[in-house]
Amino acid sequence: MALFLQKALLRNTSRRSVLMLKDWNSSRERNKGRQLSTEAGSCSKLAGKVAVITGAASGIGRATASEFIRNGARVVIADVQRQLGEETAKELGPNAAFISCDVTQESEISAAIDFAISEHGRLDIMYNNAGISGSVVFSITDLDLSEFDKIMNINVRGVVAGIKHAARVMIPRRTGCILCTASITGIMGGLSPHAYSISKFATAGVVKSAASELCKYGIRVNCISPFAIPTPFSTDPMSVLYPGLDESGVVEIIQGAGVLKGANCEPVDIAKAAVYLASDDAKYVSGHNLVVDGGFTVFKSIQFPPPDQMK
Ligand SMILES: NC(=O)c1ccc[n+]([C@@H]2O[C@H](COP(=O)([O-])OP(=O)(O)OC[C@H]3O[C@@H](n4cnc5c(N)ncnc54)[C@H](O)[C@@H]3O)[C@@H](O)[C@H]2O)c1
Repeated sequence: MALFLQKALLRNTSRRSVLMLKDWNSSRERNKGRQLSTEAGSCSKLAGKVAVITGAASGIGRATASEFIRNGARVVIADVQRQLGEETAKELGPNAAFISCDVTQESEISAAIDFAISEHGRLDIMYNNAGISGSVVFSITDLDLSEFDKIMNINVRGVVAGIKHAARVMIPRRTGCILCTASITGIMGGLSPHAYSISKFATAGVVKSAASELCKYGIRVNCISPFAIPTPFSTDPMSVLYPGLDESGVVEIIQGAGVLKGANCEPVDIAKAAVYLASDDAKYVSGHNLVVDGGFTVFKSIQFPPPDQMK
């Protein structure tokens, strides 16, 4: 009896083992398929799409152009820096093209959009990313209003012009995705000089206003608010603030300001957020401000004195 039970157990166990092995093999095949399709998917989230990215000669825009291309898109780099823009386009390969564009000139934004249409026959994604930080002046009493106008002209008016001309070609197609780079300085006051901060509060507002109208044409409008990232945009003014520091010292200060330990905010983090928003994965996301800040703007720590010091 005991032997029978043992044999039955063995038979069952080995049958179970065979079944398990079969299951394991077929699940391995399934997983392999899933893995392959995920890998293929992750590299083709923007297959066939055409994007214009302003300010893509450098930093976040450049990283986004690279990530868009890696995901199957063709990208027009629209930037005021001609030489750097041409070099970037060359480095990014045949799916990148450069057009000289100053976002303060409406005709140049319009021409960048028309260039995408004439080169590729369509525009799926417009990323209004170009921006400047301005000088490091912290008191509103010292605010130079002509510099304020310059910052608003590039960071806000340039974005509005980009949305206007993207909408011009997207509305007839009843589809499209518009992205803008805002900032955490447009979520909380006090994180940067006033002019820049005000321009980024405005950017997030422009996105909501445009999204309210363009939704009826199937066009999604979103922005991304990055934490501080060491690009020329941030390292140049920081070098003015800390003239004694070399580049790595400046980078360390910028990255050290983050609250999420074990990771730093990099251009590629914004690029990946942009791929998500531009892809069909975000097909029902519009009017959103995707904050990429490691949690920096979601809390403030309160410091009470230690109890033993209050006796
Ligand atoms: N780096 C950061 O810490 C940080 C944080 C939050 C938001 N941002 C925003 O990210 C965006 C990109 O900045 P970045 O960090 O990549 O800086 P960056 O300096 O590396 O790149 C900015 C690009 O914009 C271009 N540009 C500037 N003025 C222009 C104009 N009038 N017309 C066309 N192009 C113009 C520049 O030539 C440059 O290529 C900006 O809107 C900035 O406000 C940056």
